[in-house]
Amino acid sequence: MKRKILTMLRENGAYVSGQQLCERLGVSRTAVWKTINALKAEGYEIEAVQNKGYCLLQAPDVLTEAEVGSRRTDRWREAPLIVYTETDSTNNQARRLAQEGNPEGTLVVADRQTRGKGRRGRVWETPAGAGIAMSFVLKPEIAPQDASQLTILAALASLRAVRDVSGIDCAIKWPNDLVLNRRKLCGILTEMNLEEDYIQQIVVGIGFNVHHETFPESLADKATSLYLETGRKYSRAEIVCRVMQHFANYYDQFLEQRNLAFVREEYNQLLISRGESVRVLGVGQEWSGRSLGINDTGSLLVETERGEIREVLAGEVSVRGLYSYA
Ligand code: BTN
Repeated sequence: MKRKILTMLRENGAYVSGQQLCERLGVSRTAVWKTINALKAEGYEIEAVQNKGYCLLQAPDVLTEAEVGSRRTDRWREAPLIVYTETDSTNNQARRLAQEGNPEGTLVVADRQTRGKGRRGRVWETPAGAGIAMSFVLKPEIAPQDASQLTILAALASLRAVRDVSGIDCAIKWPNDLVLNRRKLCGILTEMNLEEDYIQQIVVGIGFNVHHETFPESLADKATSLYLETGRKYSRAEIVCRVMQHFANYYDQFLEQRNLAFVREEYNQLLISRGESVRVLGVGQEWSGRSLGINDTGSLLVETERGEIREVLAGEVSVRGLYSYA
């Protein structure tokens, strides 16, 4: 009911009469009035004017099913949406939901994670009220080796969401970290479940640092937040919904075209240290070369000192000066 009322107030933008709300929702005026009061108690500013109705003036920065759900515009907006105040890891929850048969586009969001996962077995901190932890389910009919391309699209969708709300362009550290002033703002962990050679589901998990005012000492010179960079506060629910909107658009094009040619230029323009020297930390070997940007399947092309162009599929690429790497 909260989600439906907020959706109607948002769709309309101006006043919505109590009568309209009752009719659309099939409930009494008292029920509408009670729900409006409950929303006000959560921090929503809703103006009520006689003979005109209700108007949403301001929404609090809360991650709730009503707040996120009423902002959705993407084609998965009817898919299950679960919002936790606290959970272990949204990636774990999304995987569980997918395995229970929930469809593509199922979205899990949390205000706080107690066992947030980063790439390569690292821990990802999501303290309450500051960050965003979001994970969504995909069930594409693509070859498992193409799944990493979705991570590239998730990075672009996240970058666009940040641009929409702040006007700022992040840089991308290949394959999928978003970076501002050489510090990490957003990380993405894509996990895939296979059955023989077939993708059962992919979970794309995205963590944003939004309102962090400080970071633990171990991260202080490596991580940043939107607040630290701009001095402003944001609606985290809006960021989540914009990511979903942009990702769904990219995903549709990807499923049609089956590679990343359509975003290659956009991605490479935003890629940090393109044309510069990078160190590739592969399994058991480390080498240097010049980053040339990604190819049509998302591999990083790196030119060795001998002029040979190598495709880097996976593995860590360190970039001088980034995340206090020296
Ligand atoms: C990284 O850069 O190491 C990836 C970080 C990914 C963090 C997100 S937060 C939402 C989702 N749930 C998790 O447990 N991890 C991802």
